[in-house]
Amino acid sequence: MARAVKSGRTARAKAGKRRSPLVGGLIGLGPAAALARINASLDFDRRLYAQDIAASQAHAAMLGQQGIIPAGDVTKIAAGLARIRGEIEAGDFTFDPALEDIHMAVEARLAELIGPAAGRLHTARSRNDQVATDFRLWVRDALDHLDGSLRDLQTALIDKAESHADAVMPGFTHLQPAQPVTLGHLLLAYVEMLGRDRGRIADARRRLNESPLGSGALAGTSFPIDRKRTAKALGFDRPTANSIDGVSDRDFALEFLAAGAIVAVHLSRLGEEIVLWTSPMFGYARLSETFSTGSSIMPQKRNPDGAELVRGKAGRLFGALTGMLTVMKGLPLAYNKDLQEDKEPVFGAADTLDLCLSVMTGMVGDLTFDRARMRQAADEGHLTATDLADWLVRSLGLPFRDAYRVAGRLVGRAEAKGCRLDELTLAEMRMEEKRITADVFSALDVNRAVAGRKSEGGTAPASVRRAVAEARRRFLGKRS
Ligand code: ARG
Repeated sequence: MARAVKSGRTARAKAGKRRSPLVGGLIGLGPAAALARINASLDFDRRLYAQDIAASQAHAAMLGQQGIIPAGDVTKIAAGLARIRGEIEAGDFTFDPALEDIHMAVEARLAELIGPAAGRLHTARSRNDQVATDFRLWVRDALDHLDGSLRDLQTALIDKAESHADAVMPGFTHLQPAQPVTLGHLLLAYVEMLGRDRGRIADARRRLNESPLGSGALAGTSFPIDRKRTAKALGFDRPTANSIDGVSDRDFALEFLAAGAIVAVHLSRLGEEIVLWTSPMFGYARLSETFSTGSSIMPQKRNPDGAELVRGKAGRLFGALTGMLTVMKGLPLAYNKDLQEDKEPVFGAADTLDLCLSVMTGMVGDLTFDRARMRQAADEGHLTATDLADWLVRSLGLPFRDAYRVAGRLVGRAEAKGCRLDELTLAEMRMEEKRITADVFSALDVNRAVAGRKSEGGTAPASVRRAVAEARRRFLGKRS
């Protein structure tokens, strides 16, 4: 045993000596190169270039205004930064990983372009307040973009809900047929979820919208800066109140990821509905060829890959959130390099949400529902059993619990006979409760059962039509 362990170790040690660089891997980098690699963020934080340049423009203008740097240098800096933005957008900018991050890369290029004046830009600033500012600006844009995508999906859902305000289908609890509902009503349930998502985004945006610029490395600065001026120039509501918090807080990223994770929960539930509805076992809906794929071996298949992937991608969002929470927990104040790990999960989450929402909005518009099949399904599973119990309460004055028992026995009779509740004869009904009259059959009519649920927020087509108009007003800012 001991010998086996020892020889195993020897084998590994030998293999270690013979290790060759992995294809595309990093094994074999010397210590200095490995540190440079782990330290560099330019590969991903180049996505902050526009925010970095905007924040530098605001900072330089403020420095000039306050007489901290000469006006002539501000002009040179502004022109140089504008040119760099142009170079990056034209694909003419060389991102040199030796420059570590986007902030250094932009500043180094500025020095090449305008010479020593470039060295004045970083007066009264640190990369710590710089990155905190850039990243807030980026996440603010991402929140706005996400809100717009959610609104688009709400629009698609509301349009479908309007077309199917009166399409009767089984409503489920425990995935067991429960009571008949309208498809429009069900689709509007998702509109509500997305509406709350948008509310979370608006809340997060409001808290995010303070400027950390001017916090310096952590303690502020002895230069006479005007933080209100830079905050205003960048569209922030005000400067952050505490410089230590300003450079070290990433709540805004956590809130973006948390709101995004809840969006992903909602999208994955809708994805699951689409998977079920389009399964031939349900047969409620079909996706066109644009939104379904075939199988390489089973010619009859129409797979809802888009819906499945939206369901599956939720895992990435949850991973991004838990990853970021883990990076943040226990970090002492103020800035720590761990914070550089904030960007990739946020970028990844934003990209994933964008993709999932485009696919989902496309799928919702694409779905065609088989209303006849859904209506037929609503005839199965004794969905009007509750309505039968309600009739016994209303017409015979039975306490609901007694009515429930009578209705349960009638369901048993129908099951034994292999028929629907409304196919039982009046005589059979009376065997369970002799006061039942022929009027009971009105309660067993599925369409009437649905139309009768007119309570606020209920499933009746008339209520759904009203809810559609309300949803347009509440979420899309439209009168209708
Ligand atoms: N690339 C860094 C980040 O993303 C920028 C801030 C670096 N600050 C520092 N003191 N090393 O967090």
